[in-house]
Amino acid sequence: MKKLLCFVLTAVLLATSVVPTFAMSETSWDSVWSSADAEAGLIMFVGSDESERNFTWYTEEQNTPSVVVSTNGMLTDSEKFEGTSVKATEGDFANHVTVTELEEDTVYYYKCISGDYESDVYSFKTASDDEFKAVYMTDIHITQNSEENPYSLKNTSYNLNNALEDALSKESDISLLLSTGDQASDGLECEYKAFAASPLLKSISVATTIGNHDLKGAEYKTFSNLPNEYEKAAVSSYIGDDYWFVKGDVLFLVVDSNNASGADHYKFVKKAVESNPDVKWKVMMAHHDLYSGRIPHRESENELLRLIWAPIVDAFGIDLVLLGHSHYYTVSNVLRNNKIVAPLESEMVDPNGTIYMVSCSINRPRGDDEIGLNEEIGFDYLTEEPTYNILICSEDSITVESYEVGDEEPFYSYTLVKTTDDGGHEYNSNIFKNIFNAIVRFISKIVAFFSNFGRLYDLREDGFDVKIIDGLLGR
Ligand SMILES: [Fe+2]
Ligand SMILES: [Fe+2]
Repeated sequence: MKKLLCFVLTAVLLATSVVPTFAMSETSWDSVWSSADAEAGLIMFVGSDESERNFTWYTEEQNTPSVVVSTNGMLTDSEKFEGTSVKATEGDFANHVTVTELEEDTVYYYKCISGDYESDVYSFKTASDDEFKAVYMTDIHITQNSEENPYSLKNTSYNLNNALEDALSKESDISLLLSTGDQASDGLECEYKAFAASPLLKSISVATTIGNHDLKGAEYKTFSNLPNEYEKAAVSSYIGDDYWFVKGDVLFLVVDSNNASGADHYKFVKKAVESNPDVKWKVMMAHHDLYSGRIPHRESENELLRLIWAPIVDAFGIDLVLLGHSHYYTVSNVLRNNKIVAPLESEMVDPNGTIYMVSCSINRPRGDDEIGLNEEIGFDYLTEEPTYNILICSEDSITVESYEVGDEEPFYSYTLVKTTDDGGHEYNSNIFKNIFNAIVRFISKIVAFFSNFGRLYDLREDGFDVKIIDGLLGR
């Protein structure tokens, strides 16, 4: 009887798809918002590759956390993975567990356990080959400050859930969220819990990037549970480390652009690329919008950032760079060495350069048009609606489709095609330029050392837990 029940339940869950896609009314959101799993901030981050997933959730008590995983919804024949529990910045404990040895093309069911806390049972599906779909969003800006901002934790979290649902209504098999920074407006534990509240983020893996707003607190460090973090950086912003993961035939390089130390970022990218020699595509995620020119008073800062980042992107043949920060939608022409080498087109075969893209914010879209635009930009779109982008990735191509939340059709799309492993990228072997770039990276490392240390002491002055901050300083 137990086996029969298990079979029927599994069949029903599979028939109704792995990721729940439902139109969430505000009343339904009320019950999600007050659920134990939303209050615990349970979220599933990416693992090193498709065989892993990383989990975080918060509890008041410190216990050894575990995740029970099975291929059936009754969780019989399950495997238990244990993790660690670390003190968070607002008094709770953040529980981190990594699940490993997942098989490809398999539906898994899981629940998270720590002391008295036991989550609902959720499911996710591992990919079977090089094809997968991801949704890319930026500047989600979950915020608790309802006086300075018309939104609250609950509403900003609802807007994120709506955008995710909208993306899933277009492509129900999206299995990855790429978020390029400013997940939280003040870097607070309550904001990250609200970021995680959507039930969809229990079935879609999440890859976050640290933004300047995430650095306003120290919680990003304890909230995030990410693979292959580059902890050997001589200079880092302490709250976020560069990390990489692989999905399908894509190496994702996620970097902390708040930290100006080009020398450390160069070492990280080199190590990540050398560790994954067989991966065909390279996509970088960072927070700062380098090229749009949409916010003119930031242009002097952007010029310096371009001096640091563009040579790294060129040296390692990065195909696509996903950014945020300005809250304005732009897609660059094909750029190399900070110059246009080819126009942006609907299909680009083996472009000898890189596309840099910025999406609009989810909770703070900016659509005014009294602002600049640099010539490096091939397409821009002004809107006061939140936007998201669906990446359709295969071995030979990456297509990006951009939508306003609520629209049926994309307002823009383009495709990158690769016929060879390098996809047309030529290595820059000019010795004088390489020496200049190395000097820039060294100087930026010194500048970053002082600015990052200053930021951490500011956090300490702001009253964040001294032990946590001092622990980060002692790294
Ligand atoms: Fe932002
Ligand atoms: Fe930002």
